[in-house]
Amino acid sequence: MSKLTLTSLKKMKKEAQKITCLTAYDASYARIVDQAGTDVILVGDSLGMVIQGEDSTLKVSMQDMIYHTRIVAAVCKRSLIIADMPFMSYTTPAQALGNAGRLIAEGGAEVVKLEGGALFADTVTLLDQHGIPVCAHLGLTPQSIHKLGGYRVQGKDQDSAKQIVNDALALEKAGASMLVLECVPAKLAAEITARLEIPVIGIGAGADCDGQVLVIYDLIGITQKQARFSKNFLESSSSVQEAIENYNSAVRAGEFPGKEHQF
Ligand code: KIV
Repeated sequence: MSKLTLTSLKKMKKEAQKITCLTAYDASYARIVDQAGTDVILVGDSLGMVIQGEDSTLKVSMQDMIYHTRIVAAVCKRSLIIADMPFMSYTTPAQALGNAGRLIAEGGAEVVKLEGGALFADTVTLLDQHGIPVCAHLGLTPQSIHKLGGYRVQGKDQDSAKQIVNDALALEKAGASMLVLECVPAKLAAEITARLEIPVIGIGAGADCDGQVLVIYDLIGITQKQARFSKNFLESSSSVQEAIENYNSAVRAGEFPGKEHQF
């Protein structure tokens, strides 16, 4: 079982092989997600909501992210590990470099993810120049929840859709290695995926992205409210392991997400 790298993901995009990604925040889940053959594990700052019980991701600290990334990375043999940069940990390029370096060196992350558009191009370039790959995150960016005014689909009108396309192109040009698109219309996500060379992973962004990500607790149906874009895979499986395997197979076969999961 060899470790997946960004090179593997880029090859998968070229060969139109779907990339599977799930969140994990602890060793037990990380081990089964990894063993089920999931390509990418995201140690997401969604842990603020699903682990810490907050109603946003805003209180998650660098210390929290390093801790959870470290315990995931300790058991992960195959999946590529992405860790989120928490709210306010990348307000300047220099601050971002210091904190991203900690997620890599102390946490064991292989890629760091940050939310935001072209404004972060210089930060992405600086990290990339220092050998730290960046996954950008556009569309619904939960760290901007107060500005967005709710967890809503983004890019529905022409102007905001154009802004997301321009941000995606700018971040790729700046050196981003991957992109997560969250809660945007499927048509917009398909256009961005086709225009970018880097892998695009969707959540609530339709079936035409290069891959899909879900929060693990949504997949096993223990979150408070099932979002339209997610699916409880445990309902039709006999174990958590099987539910994860079924998710991976459904993504790879192009069966998930279906039309009913997209906007
Ligand atoms: O924090 C997280 O889990 C995420 C995914 C929802 C993409 O950013």
